[in-house]
Amino acid sequence: MTNNQLYEAIFKRKSIRKYDLKPLPAETLSAVKQFANTAKPLDNSIKFEFLYLATQDVKNILPIKAPHYICLYSEKKENYLMNAGFLLQQLDLFLSANNLASCWLGMAKPTKQVPEQQNGLEFVIMLAFGNSNEPIHRLDTTEFIRKSMSDISNIAGGEELLEPVRLAPSASNSQPWFFSGNINEIEISREKLNLIKAPLYGKMNQIDIGIALFHLWLSLDHQGKTANFAFQKAAAPSGYEFMVKVKVKN
Ligand SMILES: Cc1cc2nc3c(=O)[nH]c(=O)nc-3n(C[C@H](O)[C@H](O)[C@H](O)COP(=O)(O)O)c2cc1C
Repeated sequence: MTNNQLYEAIFKRKSIRKYDLKPLPAETLSAVKQFANTAKPLDNSIKFEFLYLATQDVKNILPIKAPHYICLYSEKKENYLMNAGFLLQQLDLFLSANNLASCWLGMAKPTKQVPEQQNGLEFVIMLAFGNSNEPIHRLDTTEFIRKSMSDISNIAGGEELLEPVRLAPSASNSQPWFFSGNINEIEISREKLNLIKAPLYGKMNQIDIGIALFHLWLSLDHQGKTANFAFQKAAAPSGYEFMVKVKVKN
């Protein structure tokens, strides 16, 4: 799978919530696992592992059942939620590019039968995946329900670079990101949450930022550029919290 194939998947992927519960062929599952083993982290210092679960190993308050789930287990340290989003979004795009259905599941958890920790790492979030009888791709980008570019960015001349980022999935489609700075030094902030939303979305929207960062990484790669991530805290626009600065190397 090339970066360009992952990039192309951005423009047609969608969340699929109805699955054929028949397990995937062993060689398909093994190709998914092989790709997952090559996923690049956002922050190299954070230990993580993937765990693959089946239908009966997962409990979810929403009635979404899939034949397979890929769970991310991680060390809990700074940036681990963004790192989780960055890692699993690579799988989300890989699955879509391979005509497999997937959906991020923020509410689902492994059942009590699955150990809470894997090698000292804690469960963070999972993706459901498998085959579906529904069409798994969007025909074009008009089918995406997303904020407009001017709602999420004030970067002059950043439209082309940020369009694939604008289309990124997020928990409850909240799209909590804002892009400021300039096209060589992009600052990414996330919406501050009120007291009602914070307990529910505080974690999820850090994962969302990691997802957007992987789309940005691919978009830069598509333009022949590379991204360097800098996590030192900086100022953010009013109503937002600074998350990361992306220094672009041409
Ligand atoms: C971190 C995260 C958690 C999510 N959790 C759920 C979930 O629990 N249940 C669900 O049906 N969809 C979930 N979604 C899917 C979003 O609702 C979906 O990505 C968003 O509405 C945009 O739609 P799209 O993915 O089809 O483009 C989640 C997405 C993300 C990124």
